Amino acid sequence: MKSANIPRLLFVILLLSLALILFSHALAQSETPPAADIVAGAELYDRWYAYLGVNPPSGDMPIWSRQTTNSRSGAETWRCVECHGWDYKGVEGAYASGSHLTGFPNVMKLAAGLSLEDIVSHLHGSKDPAHDFSKYMDDTSLRRLAEFLKAGTIDDSQYIDPISLQPRNANIEHGRQLFTGICTTCHGDDGRKIVFRSEGIDESLGSIANRDPWRFLHRTRFGVAGTKMPIGSNLGWSPEDGRDILAYVQTLPSGFEIQVNTPQVAKTVTPVASLGGPAHDLWTGILTGLGAFAGAASYSILFIAGFVLVGVLVVTLLKKRK
Ligand code: HEC
Ligand code: HEC
Repeated sequence: MKSANIPRLLFVILLLSLALILFSHALAQSETPPAADIVAGAELYDRWYAYLGVNPPSGDMPIWSRQTTNSRSGAETWRCVECHGWDYKGVEGAYASGSHLTGFPNVMKLAAGLSLEDIVSHLHGSKDPAHDFSKYMDDTSLRRLAEFLKAGTIDDSQYIDPISLQPRNANIEHGRQLFTGICTTCHGDDGRKIVFRSEGIDESLGSIANRDPWRFLHRTRFGVAGTKMPIGSNLGWSPEDGRDILAYVQTLPSGFEIQVNTPQVAKTVTPVASLGGPAHDLWTGILTGLGAFAGAASYSILFIAGFVLVGVLVVTLLKKRK
């Protein structure tokens, strides 16, 4: 080989190593965040101030005045879910009509095109100063919100028919088995032991499941912010398990034709079987390993190649001077 070709060869090696490094970074990005972070993000999305145990900001969220169709005010207007929906689809989903209509966007779709860093930066108000939450939440919380939006959301239309509001392809018997025991301790066999007071009416778990299946599914998967309750995700339940429970609870009585006297919010908390930790299966394990190997290998090649390149350049320069 002619010595003049060596720098060219080294240059190619450099470029290849750079490509490998970019590739391994992309792999690292696609890694699933820890399940506990996603649950935290989901509860922050539900009602961040309840999750953090702080008072909601006073007045309405600044963006709220850009719409006139949703007449809620105060604390509610600061919840991610009030603007972006339980199905995360904002105006393109269940909040396309009804009292929750605001016209605000489908956050699942927007988040899909953004990196975690982009989302955190948006939550700092980088794009729209009125959308700044950094005064109220630290970066850990903002990052968990971003992780939830990237890795925890599901397309609810796979599980819930938007017209009939009934679950698709559900196994009601499987839902009954999951619900009985772990959920009935607090909610009762008929889902009426805890009375939910929402928008001025008394509701049972059954009526929530029928009226707002998206909210039911989100909260069965991730719990209710500020409430100690077994969390589907921590029990290792899949979205399909959540859907099956939803289908079963929809068959429970909706109304309160038999008057329930006292709201019985249980004081005792059933220990939650925490499966914790990242949900790593074999495939993500292999990808992570590959990514780490590619990363380490390409950094070493880059280092050696750069070193040799400098050497060769010095030698050629010296030769030319002679
Ligand atoms: C009062 C309504 C409202 C609330 C509350 C709200 N958002 Fe938004 N969000 C919007 C609007 C409107 C947009 C469209 C872009 C903009 O103006 O910021 C948006 C855009 C976004 C985007 C996309 C940003 C982009 O670059 O396209 C993300 C991500 C997001 N919101 C996350 C959240 C999270 C997380 C919360 C809760 C901490 C939240 N939003 C609370 C109204 C709201
Ligand atoms: C330790 C008692 C306890 C257990 C066990 C429990 N819950 Fe709950 N659940 C609660 C409380 C308390 C609330 C909140 C009540 C409120 O908002 O006033 C709640 C709320 C909910 C909601 C939200 C309803 C709404 O307002 O949107 C859903 C859905 C739900 N529970 C489903 C379940 C499922 C499914 C199980 C079984 C995995 C379960 N719960 C087990 C105590 C419990």
